[in-house]
Amino acid sequence: MLQLTDVHTYYGESHILRGVSLRLEAGEAVGLLGRNGAGKTTTISSIVGFTPPRAGSIRFGERELVGLPSHRIARLGIGLVPQGRRVFPDLTVQENLLLAARKGPTGWTLDRALERFPRLRERQKQFAGTLSGGEQQMLAIARALMTNPQLLLMDEPSEGLAPLIVQEIGAIIAELKAERLSFILVEQNLALALNSVDRVYVMNKGAIVFEGTPQSLMADEATHRQYLGV
Ligand SMILES: Nc1ncnc2c1ncn2[C@@H]1O[C@H](COP(=O)(O)OP(=O)(O)OP(=O)(O)O)[C@@H](O)[C@H]1O
Ligand SMILES: [Mg+2]
Repeated sequence: MLQLTDVHTYYGESHILRGVSLRLEAGEAVGLLGRNGAGKTTTISSIVGFTPPRAGSIRFGERELVGLPSHRIARLGIGLVPQGRRVFPDLTVQENLLLAARKGPTGWTLDRALERFPRLRERQKQFAGTLSGGEQQMLAIARALMTNPQLLLMDEPSEGLAPLIVQEIGAIIAELKAERLSFILVEQNLALALNSVDRVYVMNKGAIVFEGTPQSLMADEATHRQYLGV
């Protein structure tokens, strides 16, 4: 469904992604791990067209994404939960959700989103900027789901949140996996990532340094030590 081949991405003259190749099959859940600055967000930004690669290919189904503007890429069915949960603070919860709404195969509507995220229902009329960090993250996830994506990209959804909220997010991700939504989960929370995906990639300095199942990563002490800092 998604295939990155030898992707090179720059910020100005800084060569950040140095030949990233990865793939995701339809219905697969893939983790993208690595330390701060490894290039995880840059990989996500390359897929969605925020930082278009200078070389390499990104195929989504039959389509080549490199060269397409980001709004076209989104419309092809790629949803994003950005790092730092950027919601529109001056719009209400409901407005944030409705602005994202798009028809698609996965059947997310305002009603379904408010049912799945009861705290968002309680705060429907509140400005998103007044929500707690955990609630904003729920809103960011719900908003991405409202686009009814074929592929969902989540960039560190647990970052900076209290353990109980992280558990809630883990439960949501588990449900998405049970529904066989295709997704890439960027995480620094190793336990959350390994519980949530079928396969993982580890990045370091703009390159993939490990690919395998969560079990094989658990068994690979050298990779842990060198690239995950545990
Ligand atoms: N806008 C930018 N301009 C210049 N360099 C950048 C920019 N954004 C990121 N970088 C650099 O690119 C490299 C990769 O950053 P990236 O944000 O992709 O890492 P990351 O793996 O997502 O890290 P984190 O876990 O902290 O989010 C880092 O060296 C970073 O300093
Ligand atoms: Mg990042």
